[in-house]
Amino acid sequence: MFPQSSSTQNKQTITARAHANIALIKYWGKRDTSLFLPTKSSLSISLDDLQTTTHVSFSQTQQDTIILNGKVVTNKTNHISSFLDTFRSLYNIHAHYTIETSNNFPTAAGLASSASGFAALAKSLDKLHNLNLSSKELSILARRGSGSASRSIESGFVLWHRGHKPDGSDSYAQKLFDRSHWPELAIVVLTLETNKKPVSSREAMQKTIATSPFYKTWVKNSEARIAPMIEAIRKKDIHTLGALAEKDSLEMHHCMQTATPSINFLTKRTKAAIAHVQNLRKPAQPGSAGTPCYCTIDAGPNVKVITLAPYKSIFRDLSHKIL
Ligand code: PMV
Repeated sequence: MFPQSSSTQNKQTITARAHANIALIKYWGKRDTSLFLPTKSSLSISLDDLQTTTHVSFSQTQQDTIILNGKVVTNKTNHISSFLDTFRSLYNIHAHYTIETSNNFPTAAGLASSASGFAALAKSLDKLHNLNLSSKELSILARRGSGSASRSIESGFVLWHRGHKPDGSDSYAQKLFDRSHWPELAIVVLTLETNKKPVSSREAMQKTIATSPFYKTWVKNSEARIAPMIEAIRKKDIHTLGALAEKDSLEMHHCMQTATPSINFLTKRTKAAIAHVQNLRKPAQPGSAGTPCYCTIDAGPNVKVITLAPYKSIFRDLSHKIL
């Protein structure tokens, strides 16, 4: 279907929502930076309570207006503006928009809002223009805003296929299981620091590819973890899932740390939190079971604990206790 031409644009406001996701098997590195094509597949779980809500309408001027968490974005070279230009050129659209987008979680909480943000924006533009894009097409579109956004179109356990085609048409995310398949699996975010990142993930990932001697091995090992991870989710096996996720994330950070110059997102408090979680899962006495808990860390200092619902309360105030 063809998009509406500017003469038939109305003043309708469209609203769309998307939720955040946490990668259990990480995406770190692009093989094509302009198309946002990853070097490997990744797999995530949605955080359904953490959402971005986006309202989009046609602008009555020849300019986009972007309001992010209540503040007008004045910098013209921001990622949202680049994404809108990509969208216009992909679908041969000449319209401009007024976009109001907000998260129900604080950006300082240690969760990337770009995944839910670009997924909600892709969905709202699709609705505004009546494009009727499929979930696969929406994922490919959201990917052009931020790689991890490709995994926020669907909820539940989602696999972003690396793909092999140079045009990126086979690099999209697909739901493997509903969240209801394993509702007891829980993620607790330990907010340890709220400072801005020293380096953006976009820059850090490409520096890692270019200079870390361990990057190629990580890509190979990480890709090989996808199949056992899917099996662990299918069987609801927290120990296999947790061990794979923790290893994948720590090895990703090792690659960054061995890049030149070294990139380090992990602070003293991050390391203390990891050690605490690893200690908790050791059995108190031989034969007894430890707490089922594992860590995963993205491009920042905060730790996400992977555990089961009955154990969540153990971690609730942990960030205050870590020195
Ligand atoms: O999509 P980006 O550019 O925000 O990159 C996300 C990278 C990680 O969060 C570190 C890993 C991932 O797979 O989400």
